[in-house]
Amino acid sequence: MKNILVVLGGGRPNGNTAQLADAFIRGAQEAGHTVEKVSLLKTEVKGCIGCNACRFDKPCIQKDGFNELIPKIKAADLIVFASPLYFWTISAKLKAFIERFYCIAQEDLSPPYGRYEKYPVKDSALLMTSADEFFWTFHQAESYYQFALVNYIGFNDKGMILAGGCGDTNGKAQIDKTEHLNQAYAFGKNIYADG
Ligand SMILES: Cc1cc2nc3c(=O)[nH]c(=O)nc-3n(C[C@H](O)[C@H](O)[C@H](O)COP(=O)(O)O)c2cc1C
Repeated sequence: MKNILVVLGGGRPNGNTAQLADAFIRGAQEAGHTVEKVSLLKTEVKGCIGCNACRFDKPCIQKDGFNELIPKIKAADLIVFASPLYFWTISAKLKAFIERFYCIAQEDLSPPYGRYEKYPVKDSALLMTSADEFFWTFHQAESYYQFALVNYIGFNDKGMILAGGCGDTNGKAQIDKTEHLNQAYAFGKNIYADG
């Protein structure tokens, strides 16, 4: 059984993204996994400021919610990144959380091509919602996930649910009128079905 950390990068408290994450969590818990959800609405994490204190073996100088998340990140087998699509990419809150991985990187004396340091090796998944549903709606978000999280940090991608057509934020969340919640539930339930 796995230890799963779901990081909710904003969105409305009971909105499309929160519902999508909760459907995934229900599936994962039914499959026997331990899941913790952290909302970056409640646990505030600021973006990296590039002071480089961490490169001189000092803790991050920013005293915010990231410090309490470090042990949770280290203990997780899988980190699920969940976000509404904002201006065609992940939310600023989720981006800020990812930037702070800089302070948990470790020196790597023989890094792979294109990487300079080591990060904890984890599985990852991406859950996103949007109003639009064009074939290109999630291209930037998917591309960022692939480049930054999978290729650069070195996450082992377990898959994604890109839930388009959930309605805009002028009205109530509409995701319950789509098939995405069932898909997220099945994704959570089967994510480690093959071991
Ligand atoms: C600031 C902002 C920017 C948004 N940008 C986009 C966008 O680029 N493309 C899109 O399809 N929807 C966009 N939306 C709509 C949301 O992605 C969509 O309604 C999402 O499901 C909201 O998630 P929530 O219910 O969890 O808050 C935007 C909404 C907001 C508030």
